[in-house]
Amino acid sequence: MNSKARITAIGAYVPHKRLLNEDLEKMVDTSDEWIMQRTGMKERRIAGDKEYASTLAFKAIENLIETYNKDLQDIDCIIVATTTPDYVFPSVACQIQDYFKIPHTGAFDLNATCAGFTYGLHLANSLITSGFHRKILVVATETLSKVTDYSDRTTCILFGDGAGAVLVERDEEHSSFIAAHIGTNGEGGMHLYRTSLAATMHEQTLNTNGKMVQNGREVYKWAARTVPLGVKELLHKSELQIHDVDWFVPHSANLRMIESICEKSGFLMEKTLTSVAYMGNTSSASIPLALHLGIEEQKVKNGDTILLYGFGGGLTHLGLIIKWDLSEKN
Ligand code: COA
Repeated sequence: MNSKARITAIGAYVPHKRLLNEDLEKMVDTSDEWIMQRTGMKERRIAGDKEYASTLAFKAIENLIETYNKDLQDIDCIIVATTTPDYVFPSVACQIQDYFKIPHTGAFDLNATCAGFTYGLHLANSLITSGFHRKILVVATETLSKVTDYSDRTTCILFGDGAGAVLVERDEEHSSFIAAHIGTNGEGGMHLYRTSLAATMHEQTLNTNGKMVQNGREVYKWAARTVPLGVKELLHKSELQIHDVDWFVPHSANLRMIESICEKSGFLMEKTLTSVAYMGNTSSASIPLALHLGIEEQKVKNGDTILLYGFGGGLTHLGLIIKWDLSEKN
């Protein structure tokens, strides 16, 4: 019998410190009104000096364990999506293995920017249905505040910190995974980057201050064009109609951009879950944070069909249609 993969548990964590629009008004030439109008963001969470991607990940995983009473000792792969790991290496995934003392597991980080969480899920599904793995922890964790240039008003208003974790387990009967659509536009890499070793891209000189650099307008145009096409493709592949989808969970990049994507795709905003207003853009963590909020607000329920869409720097994107079917809570 073919193995199926089921998402069985979720956990989340955001740091305590809040960065309000009013705080940003004191740091750069901006206003609460401008930020609300252009992004729909009210505040973001900011990691403490000694909090890193690993720290947030540990807390999100502990939240998962406590909520769903799951044992992690038999996990056989840890996949961490992050663009802001504590170190280039060792990976955050290896730090998680050590912290929870998981005895026999693979562990690696993946960098697919804001599409990292959907990439992690897609990989977990593939590793389980291949028959090689049984129980995989997928974590998305980001401390974007540590790579944000707080003198650049076009980017510093957007980003926040947080983490989400899900467990994907082998299941003989139920699969959570219905359809996937993946794509890359590497020629647009210049529009959103943070340098590491190289100081040029496409023969153009880069800003090497170690902070994120973004051409917001270009990224906006690309996402508003690309995601609705991806949604269409996902519905076609799954033979579902838009009204069969209970919840749309796009990457929480910017509420205005999400409204535009919804309008083009045919989704109602009431059927769309985001984490953008109080957490800002948390890159790969934004989708699990939105799902977690949706559960807390008693919107997301077992049996729901959910369309997740991650997109971001690279430029890269990956959409999934999943069936929500978690284990009982504690
Ligand atoms: N406060 C006040 N004014 C600001 C500002 C701020 N924080 N940031 C930019 N401006 C100004 C600009 O300087 C510009 O002024 P000018 O017309 O005098 O030159 C004006 O506002 C418009 O700038 P522009 O960059 O064209 O604004 P925009 O409407 O595109 O909004 C973003 C900027 C960043 C909010 C928007 O482009 C965006 O959200 N892009 C997508 C970003 C994203 O989601 N990235 C992650 C993807 S994973």
